[in-house]
Amino acid sequence: MTPLSWIFLIYIAGCRASATSSRDFKSYPTTVKTFENDTVLLPCYVEELEDGSKARVRWWRKGKLLADSGEPTVSPPKRVRMWSNQSLEVHHVQPEDSGEYVCQASRPAPQGHVTQVHEIEVMYPPSVQIVPESGELEVNLGEEVDMACKTTGVPVPFVTWKSKSEEIPLLYDRWRLRFHADNHNMSGRYTCTATNGVGEPAIGYIDLRIRYKPEIQVEKNWIHASPGIRADLSCKVNAWPEAKVDWYFKNEKIVYSPRMMKFTTGLLNRLIIKNVRVSDFGEYLCRASNSLGITEAIVELSGVANPAVFKKESHSISKTAYNFIWEVDSYSPIIEYQFWFRWRYPDGTRGEWHKLFIPSGSEAVGPVHARSFNLTGLVEATHYEALVLSRNRYGWSRSSRLFKFSAESSPYDEDNDDRIGAIPDEKSISVVQLTSMSQHSPYGIYNGASRLDLGKLLSIFLSGWCIYLIV
Ligand SMILES: *[C@@H]1O[C@H](CO)[C@@H](O)[C@H](O)[C@H]1NC(C)=O
Ligand SMILES: *[C@@H]1O[C@H](CO)[C@@H](O)[C@H](O)[C@H]1NC(C)=O
Ligand SMILES: *[C@@H]1O[C@H](CO)[C@@H](O)[C@H](O)[C@H]1NC(C)=O
Ligand SMILES: *[C@@H]1O[C@H](CO)[C@@H](O)[C@H](O)[C@H]1NC(C)=O
Repeated sequence: MTPLSWIFLIYIAGCRASATSSRDFKSYPTTVKTFENDTVLLPCYVEELEDGSKARVRWWRKGKLLADSGEPTVSPPKRVRMWSNQSLEVHHVQPEDSGEYVCQASRPAPQGHVTQVHEIEVMYPPSVQIVPESGELEVNLGEEVDMACKTTGVPVPFVTWKSKSEEIPLLYDRWRLRFHADNHNMSGRYTCTATNGVGEPAIGYIDLRIRYKPEIQVEKNWIHASPGIRADLSCKVNAWPEAKVDWYFKNEKIVYSPRMMKFTTGLLNRLIIKNVRVSDFGEYLCRASNSLGITEAIVELSGVANPAVFKKESHSISKTAYNFIWEVDSYSPIIEYQFWFRWRYPDGTRGEWHKLFIPSGSEAVGPVHARSFNLTGLVEATHYEALVLSRNRYGWSRSSRLFKFSAESSPYDEDNDDRIGAIPDEKSISVVQLTSMSQHSPYGIYNGASRLDLGKLLSIFLSGWCIYLIV
């Protein structure tokens, strides 16, 4: 745009000043849209007076006199001048020149004054000023977030917001963003973009951090170990501000040593116990704290075997017999298994549990113990479910997941090939607390008791297994 190319965009902006009488003017009220540094000419052509002389013209802006044709001593501000034909010129226009310009023609009584209003609109590219100015905002979880991108620019810029490259639907003023920090995943960078069609869009960034109480995830809340082995306990801690994480054992903060070391990598906090001792068995507390609170999670270290897992190779061997294969991780030899099975009636109800004790049949030290077992005398065309528990010198393990089976040659669970897969009542199974029994008597509760002592068995089942009796 060369400075002397006169932009003269005339918009019929309609009458705006009530005093204006278009009959008295040969010019029309105009709005001139222009750019910085351009030159603008505002016309003010008044009908000549009856005697042929010209009316006295004054130009006003915001109540301030800019120029007066009848008073040449009035000197216009910089960059403004009035031509002899009464047009007002503003050159090298600046954003602050935007606004209304009033041309006032004075004539002798009885005609009096008439005015005509023109407007200059200096268009310029958008710019943004972010609130808070630092570009960083921190709130507590659940509190209101209030951030803004104040814009300048003509025409008034249009603002859009993005977070994690997703556009944010707007509920409020476009330049202001307000919402509740309901989830700490709302943390991150918020970007506002202001566009008005002139020049480049302007972009502002605000980094939001949401403070929240530590959250702990424990992938394995139960770690199998045995004396002499290295155990690795871990908990994943999410928090802002960053949490201080410590491990507790028997209500006391662990005094870290080369044998019991704490490691932190990113969100993962680990407690490594080298050369585990029997006295190390028990519950460990992963305790995370920050200014918003304390969160704890339990990881149990135990010599008891891991829950057994039924293998897919388990299969029907006849119309009344089934071969089960399961595997157990245990650093100590398995002494025996408990095998539980019951009917599953077509209407979804279950029969009573039948329990069998199966010797391990192996002195293997492990850590993986496999067992094959044939169950005979099954009823043809009937559906069953089974679970298994294992005992080593530290006690009984937790139960395996439920295993659904039928002695029919064709699998009845066509929709679910993986027969060990999740089943609706699996939750009630995981509640089973056989380990609590083993804790009290680390060498096994059945020592010295007759395997066939049903009365004793029943009382034990009643204490830990009431869930099954209710089902
Ligand atoms: C207007 O002129 C000034 C000074 O010469 C210059 O800095 C500015 O960039 C110009 N603005 C535009 C929009 O050309
Ligand atoms: C008024 O005067 C200026 C400067 O001489 C000129 O550029 C403009 O065209 C004139 N306007 C009319 C309507 O004659
Ligand atoms: C944030 O978490 C909520 C609830 O857990 C979820 O619905 C939402 O999709 C998550 N948003 C992002 C951006 O991860
Ligand atoms: C189970 O039965 C199959 C087929 O009759 C047989 O081959 C296998 O040896 C049996 N396994 C056990 C542990 O008895």
